[in-house]
Amino acid sequence: MVIINLSGDIMEAIASAPGKTILFGEHSVVYKQPAIATAVNKRATISIKRSTNGVSTLRSDDLQFEAELDTENKSYNLIRGKPGIIRYILEALFSTHDHSPIDIKLSLNIPIGSGLGSSAAVTVATLAALHKFHGIKFNKHLIAKKAHIVERNVQGIASPLDTLVCTNGGMIYLSRDKMVSRFNLNFKSSFVIGYTSKRGNTGKMVRSVRALKNRNPRILGSIIKTMGQIVDEAKLAIISGNNQKIAELMNINQGLLDSIGVNTTELSRMVYSARRHGALGSKITGSGGGGSIIAFCPGKSNEVHDALNKYDNAIKIALSNEGVNLKYR
Ligand code: MEV
Repeated sequence: MVIINLSGDIMEAIASAPGKTILFGEHSVVYKQPAIATAVNKRATISIKRSTNGVSTLRSDDLQFEAELDTENKSYNLIRGKPGIIRYILEALFSTHDHSPIDIKLSLNIPIGSGLGSSAAVTVATLAALHKFHGIKFNKHLIAKKAHIVERNVQGIASPLDTLVCTNGGMIYLSRDKMVSRFNLNFKSSFVIGYTSKRGNTGKMVRSVRALKNRNPRILGSIIKTMGQIVDEAKLAIISGNNQKIAELMNINQGLLDSIGVNTTELSRMVYSARRHGALGSKITGSGGGGSIIAFCPGKSNEVHDALNKYDNAIKIALSNEGVNLKYR
């Protein structure tokens, strides 16, 4: 949504972007294998207005923080709260804003640390709102590319898959030669994400898989190739709506992720607890080593959610076709 005053200046630009989850292909995608990721029905919303007192501010009632921003020096002065996400917003501002004073508001219903791509969603929404605010022409390709650079600058390493999905929405198949195809989602089944308070470190996990591969090139080579075959079979199973097959492939994929050293006791506990409480399939989603699992549980999402929530954190999600947009939701 864009609010314009009588002289035609944009007074407020609002953009929102979805979170994402990786269904198949984490880690093997680093070695030119395909992957399937999807946008989810949890979103980040950013609103930008001209500031009336000459100071740039950022406020989020959902995350309970408020800060004054120095956009030129990518620094801030906290008024309340402790927001890690602020670094992504400052980096996005640095790339696209003219440093004039603005007030930014962030609403977020993607839990931080859930592996649902809160940072990618916030980055994409911030960039889209900034482009609109400044009247800069943009398309999704440009936003996804810029958002990936912002994430890389903040984190050192970032998956282009996250920002691609948060920008485009829907379910995405990334092929071996990095071509993106979007499936149309008639796939209404429900998923539960389980996550612990220990966050995964993507860079560290990617490096540890690489080291294992260097020590065992033939074995890891075969495992990674098999992970790629799982992705291709999963694509067909999703298109034909074959839930049993999707679940079976998730469980096989989980075994292979364990074999490359990205599983943890907590993730394993959640994977098995989900299956015990009715999930047809469950696996790590994202880099592992902490972080999250995804459970596929048609008709059983309440049971699985409650079981995971007993010892860890859980959130029910649905897949979503909606990418970045300029409407308030
Ligand atoms: C992390 O979300 C996914 C990984 O495959 C890394 C990447 O794709 O860059 C582990």
